[in-house]
Amino acid sequence: MKILFIGSRLYDDVDWYVKEKGIESVLTESNENAINLDLPDQVFIVPRGMDGPKQVALMQNVDAIIPLIGIDPPLIDVAHMKEEVEKEHGIPVIAADVRAVELTSNKIKTKEFYNDIGVVTPNYQILTSPDELTLDFPVVLKQGEGQGGKDIKVAKSIEDVNEYFNDFNQALCEEFIEGSEISIEVLGFNGEYVALPPIYKGETTIEGTHPLNKVKTGPCMVKGLDNNLVQHTAYKVAKNLNSDGIFEMDFMYSPKNDQLYAIEVNTRPNGTRYLTTATCSVNSLCELINMAIGEFSLANISDKLEYYYSTEIPIGNYEGPSPKEPVKSFAYNDFVVHGPEGYQRVTARANSKKELEDLVDKLT
Ligand SMILES: Nc1ncnc2c1ncn2[C@@H]1O[C@H](COP(=O)(O)OP(=O)(O)O)[C@@H](O)[C@H]1O
Ligand SMILES: [Mg+2]
Repeated sequence: MKILFIGSRLYDDVDWYVKEKGIESVLTESNENAINLDLPDQVFIVPRGMDGPKQVALMQNVDAIIPLIGIDPPLIDVAHMKEEVEKEHGIPVIAADVRAVELTSNKIKTKEFYNDIGVVTPNYQILTSPDELTLDFPVVLKQGEGQGGKDIKVAKSIEDVNEYFNDFNQALCEEFIEGSEISIEVLGFNGEYVALPPIYKGETTIEGTHPLNKVKTGPCMVKGLDNNLVQHTAYKVAKNLNSDGIFEMDFMYSPKNDQLYAIEVNTRPNGTRYLTTATCSVNSLCELINMAIGEFSLANISDKLEYYYSTEIPIGNYEGPSPKEPVKSFAYNDFVVHGPEGYQRVTARANSKKELEDLVDKLT
């Protein structure tokens, strides 16, 4: 079995699994100074875009292609490449297709999609000028595209909206939801979908603090919110997207309205994955590989499922005890350190809340 991976930045997360499975690895990367280029069996430096990876896949006669791309902009090119390569060359590409990327890469289209399939999302308006606003303050202003909180502002007054329009001439304006932020990963392949346990990412704040900068925990334990509802809703969204790969979804729960709201979908490897793996032992990136090698199934996922208490803490630079090899695997560790220097995070798990507290004390 020979697999082409596109992009090296996340490759160290799966290298141990590729080796464990005896897979021959080929990797393409556009940046010759990127990390992890020493790990795969073969590396090809190619120009940006999907032509290079496609040529390498054909030349190397690979059995499958797995894009490991953690940012939004290339996803649409990947999706077009997937459709072409699967149709013309019969090589599976484990990624979302064009329709799924078009629906999810733009927050406005995603909201229309939620409405079409009957999934509740915060009320919204598309503003082309501040005086069109009819929602009550506070409101959240966003652009169609962006990740990590980019171009997002919580507006408390019309002055804030005016200020936002100094930089933009249009906005997705959403009612501000006071409550808990929840993320969940859904894995999809060949019409089968499995929603993994939801993760708690903190409370929304009027400053619009992004969950990237908060302490997160798994499994999600939010008073009044049934995790089955989150999993069922996420499953419904994924089934309607009807595509392959990882679907990470953001939700919010308002205790005041006792309502779960769908916020956005990312069809790529995402920041929730370490906590998901810590909590239930299913690793979404490894499952992409299982999809490629014919080992992804609901039964196989069920067999792996475990139940741990877990947490993820932004830590800057990790200075605690060294993890065991392979350092990115919870199979051999009760914690994983990840992220670039200065922005590292540690994700830890234990059998009880008390043991988790003790472990976190030891690590931080
Ligand atoms: N309707 C909302 N109510 C309250 N907070 C929000 C709302 N929408 C977004 N936020 C805050 O902004 C963050 C980023 O918004 P999101 O739509 O998920 O965009 P991104 O793609 O940047 O993650 C959310 O995680 C949340 O903290
Ligand atoms: Mg988000």
